[in-house]
Amino acid sequence: MNVGKMVVGEEAFLPCTPHGVIQLLLRSGVKIEGAHVVIVGRSNIVGKPLANMLIQKKAQGNATVTVCHTRTKDLAQHTRQADIVIAAVGRPNTITADMVQEGVVVIDVGVNRVEDATKKKGYRLVGDVDFEAVKEKASLITPVPGGVGPMTITMLLYNTVESAKRAAGLGAAKQS
Ligand SMILES: NC(=O)c1ccc[n+]([C@@H]2O[C@H](COP(=O)([O-])OP(=O)(O)OC[C@H]3O[C@@H](n4cnc5c(N)ncnc54)[C@H](OP(=O)(O)O)[C@@H]3O)[C@@H](O)[C@H]2O)c1
Repeated sequence: MNVGKMVVGEEAFLPCTPHGVIQLLLRSGVKIEGAHVVIVGRSNIVGKPLANMLIQKKAQGNATVTVCHTRTKDLAQHTRQADIVIAAVGRPNTITADMVQEGVVVIDVGVNRVEDATKKKGYRLVGDVDFEAVKEKASLITPVPGGVGPMTITMLLYNTVESAKRAAGLGAAKQS
């Protein structure tokens, strides 16, 4: 029911990672309305709901969205046209500097372990984006760790508070 409500634009509990991504964009002053957003990944928990939320005829939506996946022909041709690239793939270095235009906003949802003998655990976490190279072209870019991950937790807490308010008959708070 909740997914259905979200899809048709009714008030719903929004999925935490996509909602966190949208809040990151809004609170960083990125204009979503009219932007061409290219999402790489079509999972049920990130890519699909995010695409849906971004095309809603609402203040937090009104974007033009392209969703890419493993069957997409020439991924770079799509990402190069994006004002905002959102990577939710699960593969390091999927988005490289040659795949984005100057000034692009990049949101890296990916969390991947790569071997690193210098670390106590033997690995470190990286996203789906070649951060060091892409940051030279991007106007804004999220790091991994420390970017989307904490926002997911934040929005989970947000939903928890909303749920408690509803259970107490206090009604839903306005999203900001
Ligand atoms: N930070 C957070 O809070 C958070 C939350 C959720 C997920 N994540 C991370 O985000 C990443 C994605 O997770 P997920 O659950 O959304 O996705 P998922 O279910 O693992 O699916 C990955 C998606 O990426 C696509 N893909 C894979 N390789 C690709 C390639 N080379 N080119 C284009 N598309 C490709 C797949 O296409 P097909 O559909 O064609 O297979 C699929 O749609 C993971 O690293 C996960 O750990 C982070």
